[in-house]
Amino acid sequence: MSGLPSELPSPSLLIEADALDRNLRAMQETCDAAGVELWPHAKTHKMVPVLRRQLELGAKGATCAKLGEAEALLESGVRRIFLAHSLADVRVAPRLRALAGKLDELILAVTSERHGAVLEDVLSAADLRVSVLMAVDTGLGREGARGPEAAARLAASIRRSSRMDLMGLYTHEGHAYTAGDSRQLAEQAHATLAACAAEAGGDLPLWPGCSVTAAWMAGLSGVKAVRPGSYVFGDLFLAEMTRVMPAEAVALSVLATVVDRPEPGLALIDAGSKVFSSDKTPDGLSARCVEHPGLVVKRLSEEHGFLTGPGVDDLPVGARLRFTPAHVCPVVNLASRTHVVRNGELLATWPVDARGRSD
Ligand SMILES: Cc1ncc(COP(=O)(O)O)c(C=O)c1O
Repeated sequence: MSGLPSELPSPSLLIEADALDRNLRAMQETCDAAGVELWPHAKTHKMVPVLRRQLELGAKGATCAKLGEAEALLESGVRRIFLAHSLADVRVAPRLRALAGKLDELILAVTSERHGAVLEDVLSAADLRVSVLMAVDTGLGREGARGPEAAARLAASIRRSSRMDLMGLYTHEGHAYTAGDSRQLAEQAHATLAACAAEAGGDLPLWPGCSVTAAWMAGLSGVKAVRPGSYVFGDLFLAEMTRVMPAEAVALSVLATVVDRPEPGLALIDAGSKVFSSDKTPDGLSARCVEHPGLVVKRLSEEHGFLTGPGVDDLPVGARLRFTPAHVCPVVNLASRTHVVRNGELLATWPVDARGRSD
């Protein structure tokens, strides 16, 4: 990018229009080449225009974490949504019914037998019968059946339900972010998922989902759909920890200003944990400066980032710099809008439509 639009407030989130579009196209092309459906996870961008573009390029549907996120993104024209979370509150029944009425296909997650029993009550209250994907834990240690026997029991319990139609198995192999070899991890997670599918019976398709592994997973047997999220923008986890995308491909940065240099070796910027979130890379980085990659933010208070590294003492107070955040998803969720730029020109300002919609 040459120059920064001078009219932008600081701090603010910048989206490089061309980099974003390249990332969206590349993932869609990978899926098309493998004959696999793309159901991108909207939790990363939470923005109607981004989802609209994903659908335009060929995404079959969208994955959402929460009901609120799905409701806020309906305006994109999305007609198929997978809610990849353990829905367990009977009070949401009217909202669930309303959402289902606005879609061609609503897929829900069943994450254990215990959860399935509660979901059954939610579906009865909503008077709905829906397709479900059952969760398998492939190493993250979060939701999902632990191993083939548990998967078989979970599948059997879903098949006994009059409100759920079992249509496949899903996993979120998020432990890929800290694995050394993402291809090997994809193969291991796939083997676990396939073993659970074999035990569950019925030749069920596989739905893995993670930006680190999506390109590998798309080529593996039995995979029907992938659900990557953070690939749209990228961050330090994707560009540095896992190296699944080059630094130049990262499409979102935080514009921030050097507001003071209180002592040698330290500059303060006007973006703290309320902008970068508390997520850090395993080596302790909250963000890295785009213009001076040796400069890093390792410490945050609410409204300040502590910038250190070679050349920090040469930074003038008032300097505007861009930063790649450690983990982009919470950063977007903390902002009310983003600014889309190309070659230093401001093209559009997009509200973060589903910001804070964790309900
Ligand atoms: C259930 C589920 N699916 C898909 C994703 C997308 O993963 P990523 O952002 O690594 O692409 C996530 C991310 O947290 C998730 O929790």
